[in-house]
Amino acid sequence: MIKVAFFDAKEYDIQSFTKVAEGNPKVAFKFLETKLTEDTADLAKGFDAVCVFVNDTVSAAVIDKLYEHGVRLIALRCAGYNNVDVAKAYGKIHVVHVPAYSPYAVAEHAAALLLTSVRRIHKAYNRTRDFNFSLNGLTGFDLHGKTAGIIGTGKIGRIFLGICRGFGMNVIAYDAYPAKDSDIEYVPLEELLERSDIISLHCPLTEQTRHMIDADAIARMKKGVVILNTSRGALIDAEALLEGIKARKIGAACLDVYEEEADIFFEDRSGHILNDELLARLLSMPNVIVTSHQAFLTEEALGNIAETTVNNILSCFENDGMCDNELCYRCGNIETCKKERKQRCF
Ligand code: NAI
Repeated sequence: MIKVAFFDAKEYDIQSFTKVAEGNPKVAFKFLETKLTEDTADLAKGFDAVCVFVNDTVSAAVIDKLYEHGVRLIALRCAGYNNVDVAKAYGKIHVVHVPAYSPYAVAEHAAALLLTSVRRIHKAYNRTRDFNFSLNGLTGFDLHGKTAGIIGTGKIGRIFLGICRGFGMNVIAYDAYPAKDSDIEYVPLEELLERSDIISLHCPLTEQTRHMIDADAIARMKKGVVILNTSRGALIDAEALLEGIKARKIGAACLDVYEEEADIFFEDRSGHILNDELLARLLSMPNVIVTSHQAFLTEEALGNIAETTVNNILSCFENDGMCDNELCYRCGNIETCKKERKQRCF
């Protein structure tokens, strides 16, 4: 029996994982409400693996504790792995993730945010519920003919690209590792920033991409640009974003993720005082829409996450331990490695 400590368990996780685990008696989950942090890592004592999500902290100190307690696998139930010190884990604890559970879920959420924003649906919804049928202030703009700039043309970015084309938009893209043999028009990042009416972020958070949308990047953008972030909060310098909005440079910002979301998102904080003044200020802006990291949240995605995670765990502990979804760090470059590797990390 493979014992897995499941951190930051939410009701929807428990439902989907219990369903998949019922068909796999070799894996047993212990659902813990708390997030994994240095203070809670001791709860993993006696478990073979931990299952974690985007806002669990899997730092060097946490990895040391997990290793000491006999944990040999970190199973991320998400795609992004910026919260895991993968280099530190190398040689000690294997790390696996769920590279794709429903790229459609995230791309469609980005599209939902875009349409909501540019057609002011969020305002209209509130108005009509209040029997206010006035149209003043609800003027939007056509997406048709506009230029969408997509940063990161992986699984999600490409689906969003297709959606944008469906609306008759011109699409340009930037990727540090452009897809070979595609019909995507790749341009340098600076050119994308300068030409795009809508900019959507779909690349991972790394040291290279942290704050890639900062004051300088915003200065290059068109006035009225719509920025969409369904990737990771820290891709955007939120202070610079706020300044851009205040200066009327940025037409709208749609954020499913936020740099300091870890202690805020995923919980009901209504009735509490929000200590994050930057987020509070952003939320007070009429042209900012925030969803709390919900882009992945579809039934299809939850089912796929649970199934892939259980398969990842079984692959790592059974047979030769080889798992296609291992985040290998042997070569030191996880992005290249992810695309080319076909062997066990250590
Ligand atoms: P992917 O790995 O298929 O694609 C990422 C793309 O970004 C690749 O084409 C890669 O070459 C590119 N890239 C890497 N470094 C770059 C850089 N420095 N500059 C520009 N491009 C770079 O990943 P996928 O599945 O498309 O996911 C994208 C991101 O979406 C994930 O990293 C994750 O952070 C986020 N995500 C958010 C979710 C949500 O619920 N809001 C759910 C799932 C993923």
